[in-house]
Amino acid sequence: MADRTIKNPHKLLRAEVQVPGDKSLSHRALLLAAIAEGDSVVTGLGPGADVQSTVTALGQLGVTITDEKIRSPGIANWSTPDAPIDCGNSGTTMRLLAGVLSTSSVQATLVGDASLAGRPMHRLVEPLRVLGGRIETSPEGTAPLAVGGVNDARGGSVTIEVASAQVRSAFELAALNASGPSTIDSPAGFRDHTERWLNAAGRGEWTSATAFTVRPGPIAPARYDIPGDPSSAAFLWALAAVQPGAEVLTPTISLNAGRLGFLQILEKMGAEVEAVVTGDVGGDPIGNVVVRGRSLAAVDISGDLLASALDEIPLVAVVGVFAEGITRVSDASELRVKESDRIASIAAMIRALGGGIETTDDGFEVVGTGFLEGGVVETDRDHRIAMAAAVAALTADGPVTIRDADVAAVSWPGFYETLAMLW
Ligand code: S3P
Repeated sequence: MADRTIKNPHKLLRAEVQVPGDKSLSHRALLLAAIAEGDSVVTGLGPGADVQSTVTALGQLGVTITDEKIRSPGIANWSTPDAPIDCGNSGTTMRLLAGVLSTSSVQATLVGDASLAGRPMHRLVEPLRVLGGRIETSPEGTAPLAVGGVNDARGGSVTIEVASAQVRSAFELAALNASGPSTIDSPAGFRDHTERWLNAAGRGEWTSATAFTVRPGPIAPARYDIPGDPSSAAFLWALAAVQPGAEVLTPTISLNAGRLGFLQILEKMGAEVEAVVTGDVGGDPIGNVVVRGRSLAAVDISGDLLASALDEIPLVAVVGVFAEGITRVSDASELRVKESDRIASIAAMIRALGGGIETTDDGFEVVGTGFLEGGVVETDRDHRIAMAAAVAALTADGPVTIRDADVAAVSWPGFYETLAMLW
């Protein structure tokens, strides 16, 4: 696997970057287009390996995806795959597809790479079984998952304890195939992309601020124009935020509230943030974001704010180094079961670069020392750690070597090339 060394030439960031298509929306557009019978169009699909895992999986079910066109026989006519479906590194592919298949007549086995094979899937079991769905995990509650082969799914209601968009979406997509309406509730802070698109498709509505009821029935073929990914833009926002006088503009990205926690954190720390809604895709807001660097102060992050910044917490640690005081992150035990144990890998990254950080069971405290020395970062083959390390590298005094840096291609192939052009 390819390591990469970045030496910071100390140049001020001033840039406008159209980041690649949003990963969460790409998975959902592909799945909804595949559930529908007929031809759908998806533009701006995320280019990363995770989205490709969903494309390949749908191919095994008889869905044809060429360029921007998705041709599906409809979920009722999907083929039974003749081999296990490999979801690669993609938790979203595995969880959402497990949901869709659990209440369908198609029987399939879902597998993943070494990281995905260790991630918790038992959280899907109870919600999907409430609908009469079939899902079986390993004794450890992980993949491989055996799903589907069901013709009598029924409506039901669940409340889940984690603000997980993946579990919510798995349930909601499974509920399309039930015999009656179904409702799911959870704590706040989740990205509500699936709910917004099901609502736009006439297949459900909010029954409280956090509870959504799905009305079962078909999905029509549609056109999905995917905006840029705020979780990719976040690397550029972080770079701008830590350099007083720097500025980055990221046009046309998803501005779903469940994705904006990191921008709120940067603003609380003292960065200048402008987010302007310019339109929507299926009722899900999109728009332009400008971040300008200012001197930063430490903040405490927990609760709903944490949930809506979950994927950006590696960056919170890097930015925290440049914020005066101690930045505290708590309520983040979900980070222990991401592509790596991110609490451990974040701490190892900051320490390897000469920063000060202490971990807790559900978070960490990072000291605003104001500088990073450089060093060698083990990424645990986690894309968001590798990419956060690249941001750290561009703010560090000495060179930074990122082990297995190529893992960035999971979400953003070409990430380092984009950085190099800006720097
Ligand atoms: C995602 C939801 C989040 C997020 C993941 C993508 C999605 O996971 O961390 O990167 O597209 O639904 P959880 O729902 O497990 O919190």
